[in-house]
Amino acid sequence: MESNAHPIPFDLQKADIKGQLPKHIAIIMDGNGRWASEHSLTRSAGHKRGVEAVRSAVTGAAEIGIAYLTLYAFSSENWARPVEEVNDLMGLLRLYLSREIKTLDEKNVKLKVIGRRTGLANDILAMIAKAEERTVNNTGLTLIIALNYGARQEIIDCTKKIVKQVAESSLHPDEIDEKVFENNLETAGIPDPDLLIRTSGEVRLSNFLLWQLAYTEFCFLDLYWPDFTKDTLLNAIHDYLGRSRRYGARP
Ligand code: FPP
Repeated sequence: MESNAHPIPFDLQKADIKGQLPKHIAIIMDGNGRWASEHSLTRSAGHKRGVEAVRSAVTGAAEIGIAYLTLYAFSSENWARPVEEVNDLMGLLRLYLSREIKTLDEKNVKLKVIGRRTGLANDILAMIAKAEERTVNNTGLTLIIALNYGARQEIIDCTKKIVKQVAESSLHPDEIDEKVFENNLETAGIPDPDLLIRTSGEVRLSNFLLWQLAYTEFCFLDLYWPDFTKDTLLNAIHDYLGRSRRYGARP
């Protein structure tokens, strides 16, 4: 696996670059387990290092001036992992939500959690509510944590909401369009990601933001999540800046 040996320097302060920076970056944080086994450590230690990489990504994104950062922390399919590992990951989330929220608040970060609330422990639900409430008026980076999240489930929940509005006659079927759909997703009000990063060399979406990624630029990196740093993020942004986004039209 590669590391961050060759950071590409570019001037973020240049007005033309500032205007082209991705507004929203989404990350599939993958490879904690493989990083751990390469370092002869437990998977639990790998996830712990993964939280350090989360800190680097959040601080880095805030410093670079990214408006939205979405991190895939726990998928609706991750419940299928051994119970000890699920408990480990939930424990790390507890620690993150309890210990990090003060720092996030001081850095003007606004926290939002997406994903189904059912199935999450009551104390975690309370921590999420408290953290979201504490940071609701912050105006810096919006950090979106996808927890117990699955895109297909999100689309089903969205469809149910729309069907209910139709059944209650507050919406006519002819009025259903992309905007209505977007407004009923959990990401309502958040622009679609401009850049998706997945670490660990795996090249798939794993049920992440399927609706929202329709025109997103993808960046698959050959490094494990615990090795992710601000330089990795800068390199991915540099790569993104070289892409030509056409949205199906001609350049
Ligand atoms: C993938 O590695 C990573 C996860 C399933 C969880 C990501 C979670 C964290 C980084 C910690 C908690 C997050 C926050 C926001 C505090 P893997 O276990 O699938 O690695 P492998 O594919 O190499 O086994």
